[in-house]
Amino acid sequence: MAPSKDRLNQLSGHLPTIKAKAAATKANSSPQDFTLKDNATGKTYSVPTPRSTNPKSLTVLDNRTNQLYEVPIQPGNTIDATKFKIMKEEDEEGQVAYPPPGGPGLMVYDPAFQNTAVTRSSITYIDGDEGILRYRGYPIEELAEKSTYLEVAFLLIYGELPSKDQFAHFSDEVMRHTFLHTNVSDLMHAFNYDAHPMGMFITGLAAMSTFHPEANPALAGSDMYLEDSLVRNKQIFRILGKSPSLAAHAYRHRIGRPYNAPQRDLSYAENFLYMLDHLSEPNYRPNPKLARALDILFILHADHELNCSTAAMRHIGSSHVDPYSAAAGASAALYGPLHGGANEAVLRMLESIGGVEAVPDFLQQVKERKKKLMGFGHRVYKNYDPRAKIIRRIAYEVFDICGREPLIDVAIALEEAALKDEYFVKRKLYPNVDFYSGLIYKAMGFPTDMFPVLFAIPRMAGWLAHWVESCQDPAGKIWRPRQVYVGPTKRGYVPLGHRDVPTREVWWPPTMARRTQLL
Ligand SMILES: CC(C)(COP(=O)(O)OP(=O)(O)OC[C@H]1O[C@@H](n2cnc3c(N)ncnc32)[C@H](O)[C@@H]1OP(=O)(O)O)[C@@H](O)C(=O)NCCC(=O)NCCS
Repeated sequence: MAPSKDRLNQLSGHLPTIKAKAAATKANSSPQDFTLKDNATGKTYSVPTPRSTNPKSLTVLDNRTNQLYEVPIQPGNTIDATKFKIMKEEDEEGQVAYPPPGGPGLMVYDPAFQNTAVTRSSITYIDGDEGILRYRGYPIEELAEKSTYLEVAFLLIYGELPSKDQFAHFSDEVMRHTFLHTNVSDLMHAFNYDAHPMGMFITGLAAMSTFHPEANPALAGSDMYLEDSLVRNKQIFRILGKSPSLAAHAYRHRIGRPYNAPQRDLSYAENFLYMLDHLSEPNYRPNPKLARALDILFILHADHELNCSTAAMRHIGSSHVDPYSAAAGASAALYGPLHGGANEAVLRMLESIGGVEAVPDFLQQVKERKKKLMGFGHRVYKNYDPRAKIIRRIAYEVFDICGREPLIDVAIALEEAALKDEYFVKRKLYPNVDFYSGLIYKAMGFPTDMFPVLFAIPRMAGWLAHWVESCQDPAGKIWRPRQVYVGPTKRGYVPLGHRDVPTREVWWPPTMARRTQLL
């Protein structure tokens, strides 16, 4: 559409405050004009730069309607997406033409949430370009060196490092809730011997929601968790306490050994190793160095702001369902190979590569998009993942005790070659947390399919921290993204046998496909 005089008048007509501001600031900053080009004639028109009186705002010109809108920029360098809802296309009579009246107005289309903030959070800070990760302001490196997983869990959930008394009380509560109900135990026994432990873990968590009616909003009231921090805390103790027990149960079941009762007097990681490994040795105690290594891995995995599974926890929790069901859903999201299942996928990849000599060929296949370099790349980090650096160091400490895992040479050769290769450099692909963790778990004797479970246990603290934060968020609402409908317009039902259906494109049973090929 040509920027006619009318249009320019209309533009200016919408700009009383903007014009005033422009005049006021002329002497100081001489606002520049911007140029509108008429594509039909090639002519250009000079238009005064629209300015709002609010310097912390966007001035949006909807070229469909010549309407100008002021969209305030909020703290955190964000804009309120609902401010765009009023932007609608009008027909010649000034009626809303698109979207249809009552439709959603202009929406932000952001598949995979690549640039959409869905909450304000004070839990975890990541600077992906600089490779910085902090929990509640504390650098991950410092926490990994000086803290413990349970202390970090307290920090994440309640916002501050605990006092001595608070910590004693908190860890006592968590360790008192490590026992599984015998029916949950029996449920675990119902699985096949080779069931993936992540499936067992997710099932166990979901089942736990049925054992505590007082914790079920379906029975005890929709807003129970918003109002009552006591009932919230009780479920936090139970979930943190029982997660390692569920994981240990899954592990013992598959190796055909009886489940070990938890030991309250051990640390969180020690108790987990105890439940995994104790057989008949009197006074069995796990190796303290391995327990510490595992505890550090737990700290590193405790939270990572709004990744796929944490977003799932918040999304599911936003319906006010109980936290067991939400954590089961979050665990399911974590299970995928693009997320927490990557540590398992890395090990399977390293095994398939086999030796250092096969690395160049493998990388070539990655560059040809025949394979993916698992454990590399990250949506947020465009630098070395700070957790991967710490994990690489721990790997050698664990190898000193358990013996060197030979696949480490393949991993190092892969890393070195990838970091020099233009394909990876250009895309800023660096090793992430999963690249080396699997090697540690393997050296410690964990079966490969336990790796995602070892990620899920510590991530429970992060999920719960986000759940608590969302329960306390005055802006909290049920999550409900929008979509752009691209399906058919209204059509009438045609009875079976009277339809002209492009069957092959829609669905074709394999048996029929075989039969028609024969015909
Ligand atoms: C983590 C991950 C899902 C992030 O995905 P994303 O933010 O959507 O990034 P993209 O898939 O858009 O990747 C950007 C580019 O890098 C490439 N890339 C990303 N990760 C890659 C990998 N691991 N191997 C090879 N190429 C990779 C993509 O092909 C894409 O290339 P292109 O721009 O030429 O198409 C992705 O890097 C990945 O699949 N990594 C492997 C799985 C993994 O380790 N997950 C654990 C994460 S902690």
